Amino acid sequence: MRRYHQGTFQHCLLVTGVAVGFGLEFGFAGPDVKRLGMAATLHDIGKARIPLSILDKPGRLDPDEDAIMRRHPVIGYELLKAIPDISPEILDGVRHHHEYLDGSGYPDALTAPQISDLVRLLTISDIFAALIESRPYRPAMPRPDAYKILCGMDGKLEGSLLNAFRNVALVA
Ligand SMILES: [Fe+2]
Ligand SMILES: [Fe+2]
Repeated sequence: MRRYHQGTFQHCLLVTGVAVGFGLEFGFAGPDVKRLGMAATLHDIGKARIPLSILDKPGRLDPDEDAIMRRHPVIGYELLKAIPDISPEILDGVRHHHEYLDGSGYPDALTAPQISDLVRLLTISDIFAALIESRPYRPAMPRPDAYKILCGMDGKLEGSLLNAFRNVALVA
């Protein structure tokens, strides 16, 4: 991933730092923090198969490009599932980090009961990291503003987790 797309690689490192901090804040035990960190490191590995013209497009993706971009969780899952050291929790995180509690996410339109704590923490960490990074089409957002956006995603993210995330989002 580092060789293919520097921006995605850096994003994965940032998500890992945020997610591990969140896991510790949440009270995850050591092995769970480790799994969460590994899932965060690998979560966007499927983007290694997405054309650079889409990853680096300055501006919004058109519907066809968006459909291709939305394949990255399944691509990542397929890339990793044959590797024995990759646990089911990590595969779950890679495949489902764009799912929302209300069923509006992708690729499997999961709903709350099907979304594990690890995935919930990963999703929050991922969105937050994406907002505080600069992108080709927008500058980085201050942390408090990014946290406010997360809190406005009604029904999609777990409120009690967002409360716990406050310390991670605003202190680090
Ligand atoms: Fe992603
Ligand atoms: Fe991501």
